[in-house]
Amino acid sequence: MSTPTPPAAAQAATDPRTFRRTTLDLGDAVLRPWGREDAGPGPLLDSLITAAADPLIALWNPLAARDHDAAVAWLEAREDAWERGAAAPFAVLDATDGSLLGCVNVRWIDRADGLAMIGYWALPTGRGRGVITRATNAVTDWAFRTADARRIELAHAVANEASCRVALNCGYLPEGTLRASHLFGDGAHHDEHLHARLATDPEPAAR
Ligand SMILES: CC(C)(COP(=O)(O)OP(=O)(O)OC[C@H]1O[C@@H](n2cnc3c(N)ncnc32)[C@H](O)[C@@H]1OP(=O)(O)O)[C@@H](O)C(=O)NCCC(=O)NCCS
Repeated sequence: MSTPTPPAAAQAATDPRTFRRTTLDLGDAVLRPWGREDAGPGPLLDSLITAAADPLIALWNPLAARDHDAAVAWLEAREDAWERGAAAPFAVLDATDGSLLGCVNVRWIDRADGLAMIGYWALPTGRGRGVITRATNAVTDWAFRTADARRIELAHAVANEASCRVALNCGYLPEGTLRASHLFGDGAHHDEHLHARLATDPEPAAR
C-alpha cells in the first residue's frame, strides 16, 4: 500500500507558484538552498551562529540561530519551507572558498495571488561589495521567471539606509511609509519603507 502524499507536498508538486530548489551562480558568489544538510558541524553552521550575533543583523533582521540547537532548528525550518515550496531561503556563498557571505530569502505572503516578500542579510565579511544587491536581483528575477510571482514586496526600517539602497538598486520602487509597522531587534516598533517590484516592471540597470 502506498503512503498518502502529505497535502503541502502534494500542493508543491503541482502548484506553479512553488519555489523549487535551485542554485544561482553570480560568478564570484553562489546562491544555494539552505537546508538540513548544513546542520552538521562545520564553518557554515558556525557562520550562521556568528551572523545571528552580529549587532546589525540582530537589530534589523533577528535570526533565531544564536546557538547550536537554535541554528539546527532554523535550518530545519528552511528545509521545511523548501519542501512546501513556500519560501526560497538561499545561502550566499563566496565562490572561491565557500564561506558564508549572507542570505536572501523570498517567501509567499499570498501564494494564490502571487504576492511574495523578499529579505536579506550579510555578514560583515560579505558587506560593501555589492553581492547582496546582485543576489537579491538574481532571486527576484528567478521568482518572477520560475515561480510565477506577480508582485514582490520589500520592507525595511526607515533608519536602515543600506537596505533602502539595496531595494532601490534592485528596482524595488518606493511605495510609502508604514507607521510603527514592525517590531525590530531593539524591542521597538519602527516605521518602515515599503518597496515593491512587479513582474511587469523593467529590470534595473545593470551595475
Ligand atoms: C542591508 C545589508 C544586507 C546591505 O549589505 P551591503 O553589503 O552593504 O549591500 P551592497 O554592498 O549590495 O549595497 C549596499 C548599498 O548601501 C549603501 N550603504 C551601505 N551602508 C550604508 C549606510 N550605513 N548608510 C547608507 N548607505 C549605505 C552602499 O553604498 C550601497 O549603495 P550604492 O550601491 O548605491 O553605493 C547589510 O547592511 C546587512 O546585512 N544589514 C543587517 C541586516 C539587514 O539590515 N537586513 C535587511 C533588513 S530589511
